[in-house]
Amino acid sequence: MDNVIDIKNIVKNYKVGAEVVRALRSVSVQIKRNEYVAIMGPSGSGKSTLMNLIGCLDTPTSGYYILNNHDVSKLDDNALAEIRNKEIGFVFQTFNLLPRLTALDNVALPLVYSGVSKSERTKRAEDVMSQVQLTDRMKHKPNELSGGQRQRVAVARALVNKPSIILADEPTGNLDSLTSIEIMKLFGEIHKNGNTVILVTHEEDIAKYAHRIIRLIDGKIASDTMNENPKTE
Ligand SMILES: Nc1ncnc2c1ncn2[C@@H]1O[C@H](COP(=O)(O)OP(=O)(O)O)[C@@H](O)[C@H]1O
Ligand SMILES: [Mg+2]
Repeated sequence: MDNVIDIKNIVKNYKVGAEVVRALRSVSVQIKRNEYVAIMGPSGSGKSTLMNLIGCLDTPTSGYYILNNHDVSKLDDNALAEIRNKEIGFVFQTFNLLPRLTALDNVALPLVYSGVSKSERTKRAEDVMSQVQLTDRMKHKPNELSGGQRQRVAVARALVNKPSIILADEPTGNLDSLTSIEIMKLFGEIHKNGNTVILVTHEEDIAKYAHRIIRLIDGKIASDTMNENPKTE
């Protein structure tokens, strides 16, 4: 069908010394193309673990994961990296920009790994910088930008490879409330442009922007509901 993400009976255990942490205890979820989903839950409930699996940063202990009709549950690291570059753009709470590079070069960096020529990289990076309204900050280094501007650079970097899925783990966690609203409006536009947007948050106010809310407790899905009246402002 039109599921871009199809996860079935995923278990993820972490071994820590002699102990086993059961981070996900049989999670099944389907997400369709162009959905806008918030994953919620208390600290330690498995949100980031689920996000890392969805983003092909990690593989499950058991269960299967079909991403865009590819079975990615058993791929090796190289194959995972290739799919990740093509399909997924990441946004993190701490922005994860390289401090010595300009905003523009940070945004263009993923294209280096995709083998895009220098002039094409610059052109595409400029395009997404304009999409996040930062054309006047392209030559700035991360420490010359505000928190909200840094996160917009990170969003531009996530978009530059034209991925179908945007994954954001607590993208407003380091931002004040006004700046958070700005970033959430940007995610709203990205969703309108046709992307699938999945964000992790523990803040109810942020989750209200999503059209569907999945709640995790103790590594299991406790509820999965549609938000009939998502926030846009
Ligand atoms: N790399 C890891 N090694 C060992 N345990 C981990 C690791 N990552 C997460 N955990 C544990 O797995 C559980 C779920 O963590 P996580 O997915 O980060 O939760 P959340 O993002 O909801 O706060 C927690 O008990 C956490 O301590
Ligand atoms: Mg987390």
